[in-house]
Amino acid sequence: MKGIILAGGKGTRLYPNTKVVSKQLLPIYDKPMIYYPLSILLLAGIKEILIISTPEDLPKYKELLGNGERIGVKFEYIVQTAPRGLADAFILGEKFIGKDSVCLVLGDNIFYGGGITLALKEALNNKEGATIFGYPVLDPKSFGVVEFDGNKNVISIEEKPENPKSNYAVPGLYFYDNDVIEIAKNVKPSTRGEIEITSVNNEYLNRGKLKVSLLGRGMAWLDTGTVSNMLKASMFVETVQNQQGLYIACIEEIAYNQGFITKEQLKKCGEELSSSEYGKYILNLCKEEK
Ligand code: DAU
Repeated sequence: MKGIILAGGKGTRLYPNTKVVSKQLLPIYDKPMIYYPLSILLLAGIKEILIISTPEDLPKYKELLGNGERIGVKFEYIVQTAPRGLADAFILGEKFIGKDSVCLVLGDNIFYGGGITLALKEALNNKEGATIFGYPVLDPKSFGVVEFDGNKNVISIEEKPENPKSNYAVPGLYFYDNDVIEIAKNVKPSTRGEIEITSVNNEYLNRGKLKVSLLGRGMAWLDTGTVSNMLKASMFVETVQNQQGLYIACIEEIAYNQGFITKEQLKKCGEELSSSEYGKYILNLCKEEK
């Protein structure tokens, strides 16, 4: 399974914050936003990861994340010249995906909770077709929304509906088999001129190959679409980390727990960042017996 992080777009809703810095590089509390979706791919055990961003921003992602060796994975990078839509990830990533299956995560989506590992495991076990998720939100109008029949069978997914037919939004985490490349290539642009991920999901549904896994209580999916929501997400991370003493989305810790790097390598990662609390946290992990 390959992984893709889509981290392009202009982030105009966050201007002037994103005038010179890519949205997904802005901090959510103590680490860049992209660490959160990246941590999900690492938790899923995915080690080959493609990062897609704009021509202006991609060099900064390379500077931040490098080739991945530091945390025992492999990063590749591809430019998206215009925000053509989320499904463009599979067209741009065709060579990278090869004959494999692929997981796409949006660079501005934050997931947290005990249930996530199980949800990832189930999605990874579903070898054929697509697995997407449904997450209850109070106001689903600005998301993809799942429509169910009376027996909770999925009828369709609608992109940003005026009148949502359920309160289940589709978060930016999608698992697909290799057919996604061909499906993405045949998607017609929507009225907003984008090749929508929702069209890809509806095609899987038409083929009888879409699984929608519903995420319930105890799982956080945090929105970072506005400055206010970014602040709330930062406060959420700060609250959990300071209460538990356990970090959310510490990519080095996850890489170590997944067996991607040794304790020696973990220590080196901590030393590089030792003047920050984040680095000290990593160094502390090295002291623990395991
Ligand atoms: O966050 C989940 C939602 O993401 C889903 O519920 C929707 O079905 C899906 O369409 C998407 O909706 P958004 O309108 O929120 O997507 P947005 O255009 O904001 O793009 C999401 C991220 O992907 C954002 O970080 C920018 C990046 N992006 C977007 C496009 C269209 C790219 O890198 N390239 C693109 O071409």
